[in-house]
Amino acid sequence: MGKVAVAFAAVAVVAACSVAAMMVGRRMKSRRKWRTVVEILKELEDDCDTPVARLRQVVDAMAVEMHAGLASEGGSKLKMLLTFVHVLPTGREKGTYYALHLGGTYFRILRVHLGAQRSYLDVQDVERHPIPSHLMNSTSEVLFNFLAFSLERFIEKEENGSISQGVKRELAFTFSFPVKHTSISSGVLIKWTKGFEISEMVGKDIAECLQGALDRRGLNMHVAALVNDTVGALSLGYYHDPDTVVAVVFGTGSNACYLERTDAIIKCQGLLTTSGSMVVNMEWGNFWSSHLPRTSYDIDLDAESSNSNDMGFEKMISGMYLGDIVRRVILRMSQESDVFGPTTSVLSDPYVLSTNSVSAMHEDDTPELQEVARVLKDLGVSDVPLKVRKLVVKICDVVTRRAGRLAAAGIAGILKKIGRDGSGGITSGRSRSEIQMQKRTVVAVEGGLYMNYVMFREYMEEALVEILGEEVSQYVVVKAMEDGSSIGSALLVASLQS
Ligand code: BGC
Repeated sequence: MGKVAVAFAAVAVVAACSVAAMMVGRRMKSRRKWRTVVEILKELEDDCDTPVARLRQVVDAMAVEMHAGLASEGGSKLKMLLTFVHVLPTGREKGTYYALHLGGTYFRILRVHLGAQRSYLDVQDVERHPIPSHLMNSTSEVLFNFLAFSLERFIEKEENGSISQGVKRELAFTFSFPVKHTSISSGVLIKWTKGFEISEMVGKDIAECLQGALDRRGLNMHVAALVNDTVGALSLGYYHDPDTVVAVVFGTGSNACYLERTDAIIKCQGLLTTSGSMVVNMEWGNFWSSHLPRTSYDIDLDAESSNSNDMGFEKMISGMYLGDIVRRVILRMSQESDVFGPTTSVLSDPYVLSTNSVSAMHEDDTPELQEVARVLKDLGVSDVPLKVRKLVVKICDVVTRRAGRLAAAGIAGILKKIGRDGSGGITSGRSRSEIQMQKRTVVAVEGGLYMNYVMFREYMEEALVEILGEEVSQYVVVKAMEDGSSIGSALLVASLQS
């Protein structure tokens, strides 16, 4: 071999070695990156862990906090608000009633016609529209004028264009925010939640604001009740099944209410009602306990939210926030490794990933996870391999499983407080025989998260059985109440008239 040929051969060997070394180096680097995301996932799993022992601590904390909130004003993060609802619809109501529901994402208007028999409940013309986002931080006048205008259009449609003024219409206003009631039809806004920010409305009477707007439009309509969405769901639940004593909403926000004995509402001594009980709006979104498994993502989400240090439980379990927790995990993975390609600016946008998209990815049953690929593409992340898509599904699973299980612990906490969890619970005002005899207990549940996200629902129901045990669980029935918040409020107004 000549000198030149030897030199060529040597160069070729060196080049081959360095290509091989580069490839090995790249592989090692990509393995290291993959290890990084696996570690982030593992940390998330550990931080979100909810073994049944921990859930039971949350159950106990919920029951204790309920007790404290009933004992004194400001005694707990749970406000335990009086609703002045002490009689629930029975099925004997009759007449035509309207409901307007301002929720977190949608507003609904509907009309119900009742024929004095439970089987004669005719829900007519349900209208459901997204709340225009500019209204969420407008003024009370703009918001209520908009609601009154929408009601007017609804009635115009039902009466084919002309509104007859001779008829007085009774309206239930379902208002899904914390209100301090002074009667069933009046109460002031305590604070906004779920991203609403019309500060001048805090402290104003909500029913009065709506009545004023209706009067200004010349609509002969009377705001007969101001109702929290949970109370609406309870009313519909009770109408169908009088064993319904608890109602929970899992939607954009989350909350629960239940029937409490008036003698257990210590902060209002001397409170008298014909039934001896009253529905209490817990405002459980603000529940907090050191037993809640909190991650760095929850801490950052809270710090960057418009209501930081507030609604801690809601931020772990409700539809407004689950998507953003998942987004934060993906963002961190994308910043600390290159498995998602370069970090996109879309992924850094708060709330850009909705819980609906999380549910679509989590429940994607296509072999190639096409739905996951589609959602990631919307976040500016394209062409990720299948194993990365599987990783994303896992993140959705961890976050939603924690939410479902904590939601179950919340419900079990209420059951404990009212002596329906089989343990004897916190017994203020209850006799031993009442505690020991396990009664059938129906929990009415409403809200888009529960209705539409099957995995959330399944995790919640599974954990409830785990917490209560098979035997007690047989007495606890969880019933979905579609549109319960609005229909139930209309039924409540009907029951006030009869
Ligand atoms: C509100 C509650 C409401 C719940 C569910 C929370 O943000 O504070 O009043 O019941 O959302 O809509």
